[in-house]
Amino acid sequence: MSDRLFIFDTTLRDGEQVPGCQLNTVEKIQVAKALETLGVDVIEAGFPISSPGDFKSVEEISKAVTWPTICALTRAVEKDIDVAAEALRYAKRGRIHTGIGTSDPHIRYKFNSTREEIIERAIAATRYAKKHVEDVEFYCEDAGRTENEYLARVVEAVIKAGATVVNIPDTTGYCLPDEYGAKIKYLMEHVDGLNGKAILSTHCHNDLGMATANTTQGVLNGARQVEVTINGIGERAGNTSLEEIAMIFKSHKECNIVTNINTTKIYGISRMVSSLMNMPVQPNKAIVGRNAFAHSSGIHQDGVLKNVQTYEIIDPKEVGIDDNAIVLTARSGRAALKHRLHVLGIEMEQDKLDKVYEDFLKLADKKKEITDDDVMVLAGADRSQNHHIKLEYLQVTSGVGVRSVASVGLNIAGERFEAAATGNGPVDAAIKALKNIIRRQMVLKEFTIQAISKGSDDVGKVHMQVEYDGHLYYGFGANTDIIAASVEAYIDAINKFVK
Ligand code: KIV
Ligand code: ZN
Repeated sequence: MSDRLFIFDTTLRDGEQVPGCQLNTVEKIQVAKALETLGVDVIEAGFPISSPGDFKSVEEISKAVTWPTICALTRAVEKDIDVAAEALRYAKRGRIHTGIGTSDPHIRYKFNSTREEIIERAIAATRYAKKHVEDVEFYCEDAGRTENEYLARVVEAVIKAGATVVNIPDTTGYCLPDEYGAKIKYLMEHVDGLNGKAILSTHCHNDLGMATANTTQGVLNGARQVEVTINGIGERAGNTSLEEIAMIFKSHKECNIVTNINTTKIYGISRMVSSLMNMPVQPNKAIVGRNAFAHSSGIHQDGVLKNVQTYEIIDPKEVGIDDNAIVLTARSGRAALKHRLHVLGIEMEQDKLDKVYEDFLKLADKKKEITDDDVMVLAGADRSQNHHIKLEYLQVTSGVGVRSVASVGLNIAGERFEAAATGNGPVDAAIKALKNIIRRQMVLKEFTIQAISKGSDDVGKVHMQVEYDGHLYYGFGANTDIIAASVEAYIDAINKFVK
C-alpha cells in the first residue's frame, strides 16, 4: 500500500519573497488557479500582516480557489494570527501557519529568550490559532540547527496544543541529507501524537544545493508533507522544487509514495511562474530546464534513437513537454495560439487574446518560429500598460571606432520629453539619454541579457536592478532589439519609484 504525500506549495509566499519576484493580486490568482489544476494540496498564499497586498492576495485566492487548503503565515504573535484568520475568512479550507525560531542562535539572538519560554510561546500561539481554525500548522524555524531532543519537546508540545502539521524547516539550508533524514526519524520515534494526530512537514532551503536530497530523506524517514515551490524559487538559493519531488516519487515506485500532482501540468506552470516572476529557469534545471531532455552528444543521440530508454528516465510528455507540439509561425491562427496558451496554463478573454494575437503576428514577422517563452512574454506584455513613464522612441547609432549616440523620447503622464547622449556603447548612451530626462540619483546595479532560445532573430530578455534612495528596484524588458529591451527594463524599474 502506498502512502499519500501532501504537497504544500509556497511559491506565492516563500517564493515571492525573492526581491524582484513580486506579483500583483491578479497574477497571484492566476498562479493559484494553475496550482489547483496541478493538484497541490495546500497553497501558502501569503503573510497577511506583512502588507495590505499580502492580505488582499490571501483573501482573493481564498475566494478563487476551490479544493486546495489555503494557508496564511504568521509569527507566534496574536495580532498576526488575528489578521491571518480574517484574510482566510472566505477559504473553503483555511490553515494558519504559525511558528517561532527554536535553534539556540534564534532563541538567544533573535528573541533574547530561553528554551522554556519559547515552548510556552509556541503552545500559546498554537492554542490561539486553534480558536480561529481547526487546521493549524506550526513551524520550528531553523529546526535544521535545533538540537533534536529539544526539538522533540517543542513538536510534542504543539501537537498537544492542537497542531495538525508540524513543519521542520532547514531554514539555512545547512543540513546534510543523512542528518535531516535522521532528524525526522528521531522525531517520528520520540514524539507522541505523530501516529494519528499530526504529521511532520519538510521545508528545505537550497543554500548548499541539498534541498531536494534533504526533502527526499525527510519523506523516506516519515514526513508526509513537503513544502516546495515551482522551479525551486525562494529566498537566497531557493526552496525545494515541486517538480523534482513529484517526479522523484513518480519515478521511484519502490518508495511507495504517491502525490496528487498531475505531472503533465508541470511544464506549463513552470513557464508561467518563470515569466510572471521574471525569473529565468536555468537551462540545465532538472525536469523543466530547456536542456533537461536535450541529448547533444553523439553517443547519447545514437542511443536515444535506438531506444529512448538508453538515456531517458522520464518521458518528456509525462511533465507536459510535447516535442510534436505545433510550431507557431506567422501563418498560425488564433486557435493555435490559444491552444499553446492553454498548454502553458493561460486562459484569456477574447479581447485580450485578440491583442496578444496582434503582437504575436508582429513578432512572427521578425522571427521564424515563436517559442513557448516568446508566447509567455507576449501574454504578459500588457504589464507596462499602466506605466506612468513610457518609451515613445529610441534611436541609436553605434559601431567600432566611434562613440555611440542615442536619442530617446519618453511619454511622461501624456507629455513628451526628449534627450540625447553619447556613451561607451549603445546601452550606455541610451541610459544616459534617459537619465538626462529623469534626473534622479539612480545606479544600475545588475544587468542581465538573455536570448530566449536561439537564432540571431531571437527575442532578448533583460533583467535589471536599479538602486534609488537606498532601495533596489527590478525591471524587465523583452524585445528582438536588445538595446530596446535594455531601455524598456530600465524604464520598468523607474516606474516602480517615479509615480
Ligand atoms: O524557511 C523557513 O524557516 C520558513 C518558515 C517561515 C516556515 O520559511
Ligand atoms: Zn523558508
